[in-house]
Amino acid sequence: MPEKILCKLPDPQPMPMTVTDALRKRRTLRSISGRPLTEAELSNLLWAAAGVTSKDGKRTAPTCLNLRSVSVFLLAKDGVWRYDGEKHALELVVREDLRAASTLGQHAFVDNAPATLVFVAENTPRTQMALPYFVYLDAGAMMENAAIAAAAQGLAGVPRGSVNGPELGKSMRLPATFTPIFCYTVGHPQ
Ligand SMILES: Cc1cc2nc3c(=O)[nH]c(=O)nc-3n(C[C@H](O)[C@H](O)[C@H](O)COP(=O)(O)O)c2cc1C
Repeated sequence: MPEKILCKLPDPQPMPMTVTDALRKRRTLRSISGRPLTEAELSNLLWAAAGVTSKDGKRTAPTCLNLRSVSVFLLAKDGVWRYDGEKHALELVVREDLRAASTLGQHAFVDNAPATLVFVAENTPRTQMALPYFVYLDAGAMMENAAIAAAAQGLAGVPRGSVNGPELGKSMRLPATFTPIFCYTVGHPQ
């Protein structure tokens, strides 16, 4: 078995904005620079989307029937990573830059933005009660948490439904029971 590569993220830090101001500032901004995110920024974004905040594994975002049927993956220049909310760490899935493969046509900003979060739905007997609709609600709540964290850190981001999920899942080497359903592309404003 190949050795697992796990990168621990720094603990999430208080973000320098009130919830009111972050809600007011949240905007879809498609001018995104290629400048990498800092580990601290990434940590806050991923924690906001799917961080674990209780001893029994509950998250920052609500999930249908507490099934946690949606996971977050990160597409970055150095590869595809799975976010492990329990460990607050990133686990390497494949060392391949798949950012451009996550869009159907918005290459102008997706290809170079430093991060695309991919919300991946699990379709197994365990998660049947969340399918087909509730996984989308779960993913929407997770995306909005990430968008608020982006706004609070002065970042620019785009929620994206225009993704070929089954194709992207294959490129990400996911088992057929895991399908990308939504993306959030994020970075520093241009
Ligand atoms: C479910 C959903 C799917 C979206 N898909 C895309 C997309 O594929 N590409 C894109 O550029 N923007 C996408 N958006 C962003 C919307 O265009 C944007 O939220 C809308 O224009 C309102 O702007 P605001 O987010 O700044 O309030 C999506 C938003 C949502 C909620």
